Amino acid sequence: MTSATGNLENKQVLLIVGGGIAAYKALDLVRRLRERGVHVRAVLTAAGKNFVTPLSLASLTGNKVHEELFSLTDEAEMGHIELSRAADLVVVAPATADLMAKAANGLANDLASTLLLATDKKVVMAPAMNVRMWLHPATQRNLAQLVRDGVIFAGPADGAMACGEFGPGRMFEPLQIVEAIADALSSDTSIPLPAGSLAGRRVLVTSGPTHEPIDPVRYIANRSSGRQGHAIAQAAARAGAQVTLVSGPVSIADPAGVTMRKVETATEMLAAVDAALPVDIFIGAAAVADWRVDGVGSNKIKKGASGTPSLKLVENPDILAHVANHSTTRPELVVGFAAETNDLLDHARAKLLRKGCDLVVANDVGEGTGVMGGTRNTAHLVSRAGVDSWPLLDKDEVARRLIESCADLLGTEPRS
Ligand code: C5P
Repeated sequence: MTSATGNLENKQVLLIVGGGIAAYKALDLVRRLRERGVHVRAVLTAAGKNFVTPLSLASLTGNKVHEELFSLTDEAEMGHIELSRAADLVVVAPATADLMAKAANGLANDLASTLLLATDKKVVMAPAMNVRMWLHPATQRNLAQLVRDGVIFAGPADGAMACGEFGPGRMFEPLQIVEAIADALSSDTSIPLPAGSLAGRRVLVTSGPTHEPIDPVRYIANRSSGRQGHAIAQAAARAGAQVTLVSGPVSIADPAGVTMRKVETATEMLAAVDAALPVDIFIGAAAVADWRVDGVGSNKIKKGASGTPSLKLVENPDILAHVANHSTTRPELVVGFAAETNDLLDHARAKLLRKGCDLVVANDVGEGTGVMGGTRNTAHLVSRAGVDSWPLLDKDEVARRLIESCADLLGTEPRS
């Protein structure tokens, strides 16, 4: 989940435009992609034709627009299998409830759904629909299935909708979709599904930094981007778990198919974690501030005659230790993180015992490693049984391996 839009020059994108009012944004998406040197082929669904014309898409892409599954001319020029294979990436924008339902269930009764079933490339979906349709259990089931199938979701965003309602369901803006496309194209291989299933399991993950206010405008923070924690939540969802992600302030997208709880401070994070218990697995990946400022006032601290202010710090609650030592609802598996700059494994083993967790993911965050805020991580999985050291990996792959280990340790039967 990088934020750079990378080099997209000469990439081939197959864009499927579904039928929704947000289809007009697909035209701007094409322009944004073309500006970056991307070759776009467009497929327009029958419903999509009610919102944008084949002519506008053809003019903007500079290519013929594909509409029919059984088109003799199209099949003679480029068969539908070839159409989906020739692309580097398939993008569905807007992804309607109907297209999601078809893709989640493997239906192939028109060109768009057939391409989605026939492709061997990554698929990015930018959903757009009415908030009730998005929140409907059927769509949420389809979303969970598509996440498990490895579909990458860009959005939806919260906001005012064309139908006059407010909530999740707005399509991401074209530039946000371009960012998701760049992310998807930046790693050459797709991360495989975690082996082992967490179906029926509840997983709670903390991620990101916490912000501890000094006064109403200033705060103490750290360099955590939330990438590792968010990737873990996503991997758990892909393994079929019901996931709650409690996140401090981050600038990366919410993972798809997880319940988000957004907080600022360690105190709020603890409350959100407590509210989400009981769970089967707790993974504390957040970089929780160790201290907060005592006695934060309601006014901004002014420079002035009283000289440089000194801050009195008080210790924050240790959320991981709190969960690991919970007398009534201790999760079956409690996983902590140890970000250290020296004596990594010794510190990690000590943390495992001191905090009472079952696993500690140890990573070296020393100078020059680029782990804090970066996209890669060298991790060691420390348990009472020993240490499993992984090479330098993408954070998505670290997440996948961690979720596999958790599934392994838990076995397949959810507790009743
Ligand atoms: O003690 P230290 O901060 O090094 O421990 C890191 C681990 O403990 C991480 O898993 C982090 O999420 C968790 N932690 C916590 N609450 C704190 C401090 C750390 O949950 N107040």
